[in-house]
Parts: sequence; structure tokens; C-alpha cells
Amino acid sequence: MQSVDDAKVKAARKSLEFVEEGMVVGLGSGSTATHFIRLLGERVKAGLKVRGIASSRASEDLAVSLGIPVIDFRSVQTIDVAIDGADEVGPHLALIKGGGGALLREKIVASAAKQFVIVADASKVVALLGKFPVPVEVIQLAEPLVSRRLTDLGLHPTRRHAKDGSDYITDEGNFILDCACGEMADPAKVAAEIRAIVGVVEHGLFLNMATAALVADGSGVRKLAR
Ligand code: 5RP
Repeated sequence: MQSVDDAKVKAARKSLEFVEEGMVVGLGSGSTATHFIRLLGERVKAGLKVRGIASSRASEDLAVSLGIPVIDFRSVQTIDVAIDGADEVGPHLALIKGGGGALLREKIVASAAKQFVIVADASKVVALLGKFPVPVEVIQLAEPLVSRRLTDLGLHPTRRHAKDGSDYITDEGNFILDCACGEMADPAKVAAEIRAIVGVVEHGLFLNMATAALVADGSGVRKLAR
């Protein structure tokens, strides 16, 4: 029987078909994106010439350790293809991301990408977004205020903590509030409400961004388009 991790590897392997010689490649974060970076590293070792832009410190460290040249937005402003995972993939490729805490850089990378390809196991595909809590990255100082505003909106925020119980701090030095919104009939409305709160840096609703999703299960990899 195929495990969830096998499915993640399958999706990641399929996404290599989007990567061509000379491309600038957005490197996602999380376990599925990690499979992709490892597979890309094998290709680079075999001679493929690409440059990566990483969406987290962890992905950057991994890419560098595998010999993938890593650049930033001082060198290029457009990414040919970004490959990343997702916590939920909904209708029209609307996504919830940020389970791993990298949503801010992930959204910056995705926003600069001509193609933004999601790699996921089939359990991530949902009819309505929202069972997975929507992460909201907030400035530390504003966290009590933002938390109150999110509560008033009925979004049930909870401060994220690290496994050892300490404050969870993002790569950019912010807190994360995970919002148990429940299934959303209108994620765009929720996204706009969250964005309007002063002190919010970014949220994990990625709407109208993904260009394709490669979704794997025991029977193979399906390509979903928007
Ligand atoms: C990290 C993310 C990840 O892409 C998302 O959490 C999916 O992770 P995984 O591939 O481990 O299931 O958004 O911020």
C-alpha cells in the first residue's frame, strides 16, 4: 500500500517536468517541497543548470547543501516556475498554506512566479477551504490587537507555539495566529477582512495564484488546472 509520503514524492517527481535548463526556480517549503528540492538537487548534480529562490531559511539551507545555486530578488525579479506544497487545495486552485510557517516568503515567491505549481498528496484536495486553520502572520507588537479583531470576525485565532512550548517565530521575526475559520463559502471575503487589519503582515489564503496542482494518490498523479 502506498503511504502519504510516497504520494508526496510522486507529485514532487512529476513537477520536475516543469523545470527546464536555465530557469529560475522558486523553492517551496514543507515536506513535499523538500522532496522536490532533493530531486532537483539530483538533477543539478547530473548537470542541469538552474538557479533557485527559496521560500524559507530551511529550504535555502537544503538547496545550498545540495549544490543548487540560490539567488534572491536583487538578481532577478521573475521566477520561471515555483514549486510548493499546500495544506488545502480547493476549487479553482484556491489554497491554504503556511502550516509550516513560511507563508509570507512563500507568497512573495509565488507572486513573482510565471507558473506556480502545487505538489500534494490527494488528502489535501477539498471541496471547501477551511478545515485546516488559516495561518495569519502578525507583527509581534500588534498580536493582541489583531487577535481581538480576528475573534470579532468569528475566525477563532490561536497563537502558534513551537514544539518546545516557546513562541513560534517566523523567519521574518513575526508571530502566527492560526484561525479555525471552518469551511468558507467565500474565501476571498475572509482574505479581504483579514488583510484589512493593521498589524497583519500576510495570511495563508493563496487565491488566484496557483497555475496547476499535481495531486498524487495510489493510482498516479492528476494535474488540476484553475
Ligand atoms: C509551509 C507550507 C507547506 O507547503 C504546507 O504546510 C504543506 O506541507 P507538507 O508538504 O509538509 O504537507 O505552506 O508553510
